[in-house]
Amino acid sequence: MATPERKESVMDKVISLAKRRGFIYQGSEVYGGLAGTWDYGPLGVALKNNIKGLWWKRFVLNREDMYGMDAAILMNQNVWKASGHVGGFADPLVEDLKTKKRYRADHLLEDIGVDVKGLRLADMDRLIKEKGVKSPDGNPLGDVRQFNMMFKTHCGAIEDDTSVSYLRPETAQGMFVNFKNILDSFHPRLPFGMAQIGKAFRNEIAPRDFTFRSREFEQMEIEYFVDPRDEKKVQETFDVLYEEQLNFLADLGLEKAKIHKVEVPDADRAFYSKRSVDTEFDFPFGQKELLGIAYRTDYDLNAHITASKVDLSYFDEETKTRFVPHCIEPTFGLDRLILATLSSAYTEDSLGGEVRAFLKFSPKVAPIKVAVFPLLKNKPPLVEKARGIYQTLRNELGGSVVFDDNGNVGKRYRRQDEIGTPYCVTVDFETVEKDNCVTVRDRDTGNQERVAVADLVRFLKEKVSL
Ligand code: GLY
Repeated sequence: MATPERKESVMDKVISLAKRRGFIYQGSEVYGGLAGTWDYGPLGVALKNNIKGLWWKRFVLNREDMYGMDAAILMNQNVWKASGHVGGFADPLVEDLKTKKRYRADHLLEDIGVDVKGLRLADMDRLIKEKGVKSPDGNPLGDVRQFNMMFKTHCGAIEDDTSVSYLRPETAQGMFVNFKNILDSFHPRLPFGMAQIGKAFRNEIAPRDFTFRSREFEQMEIEYFVDPRDEKKVQETFDVLYEEQLNFLADLGLEKAKIHKVEVPDADRAFYSKRSVDTEFDFPFGQKELLGIAYRTDYDLNAHITASKVDLSYFDEETKTRFVPHCIEPTFGLDRLILATLSSAYTEDSLGGEVRAFLKFSPKVAPIKVAVFPLLKNKPPLVEKARGIYQTLRNELGGSVVFDDNGNVGKRYRRQDEIGTPYCVTVDFETVEKDNCVTVRDRDTGNQERVAVADLVRFLKEKVSL
């Protein structure tokens, strides 16, 4: 009997486009891959850099109260002991008693329709036993236990307890341990924030959903310090920062209807948080966490004061008092933002009677902003003119411009649509013989307009600049 053909899901199509066109490849692919790692190709890194650039502009460059940082990934192991990560940064693990394969207990329960929000370790253990949940291979499961997600390593040539270090599971601690440095170098007044973009690592039990749950990923985090004595103001600041997170999602062109606010219940909050709000997004594989904001209070600074014996308090000149500030943390998973941007940009429509699949990126994040074509590749005056325009646009638009003279113009449009290039510029005979104007074609509508070469930079810059 013929097996019915499986319908390709949107996620399958996005993964295949991402690989085919050079956005995202499997990590270590020629060796069969390494689970939970992904390599960004030329278009993926351009998309990533655009998203980072927008974030840095909104949260650092456009504000007077924010201090940028780039702390080391490897840190003294005492940082992670003090922060609570050595003791408490864990996921619920359950083992197939026969194959010894390991699974996330909450994922196995979710897969059979259990709402796992708020469940504690003991609840999961009980439910797995009560419901007779088996492993995906159909075997019995052991007890649910905690699994620490930090990657452990050793610094230097001696592998003993004193040389232990960890690949950081969050960028945040790099900022907490530099809090005093920022006070001493810049003397900021509260409220102020520290911001950084960087890699983080978590030894996920079961990486899944393409780049959504990876073992190596990039975070964009802010630790925003406030005076805890005015509780109302603290809550207002939390709400303002939350709104700023949403404004940033609008910068990326993500649809509002796909974005959901979720107050995190007590049992699901990270151990350091007094209040957390997640922003979830409708990914092709379901509504999942995209961003978070947590009220970390003075948990981290106090932990480092106790463990390091260094004074990390703040002196308020106005009231002549000394106290430990509280911290509100908006955190962004860069790879999840890329996945949300890619999957929500994926569009199928029909244009000029032809079905097409294309990426409807906001021009601000599109990896290539403009493609320049000579109408025909064998007509030197057209090619020369197009090359000149291409060079000018590259200089003016920061390099995110390509030149293409392969195949007919229709094929070139389709290639550019597929990678989300918002504008194509064609040099034709009229350009060189008559009006010194070019045709600018819009990706989404297919509409074309004539624009004077002298106006082209201004015309395009207005549309695509970060
Ligand atoms: N710093 C918060 C987190 O990594 O989730």
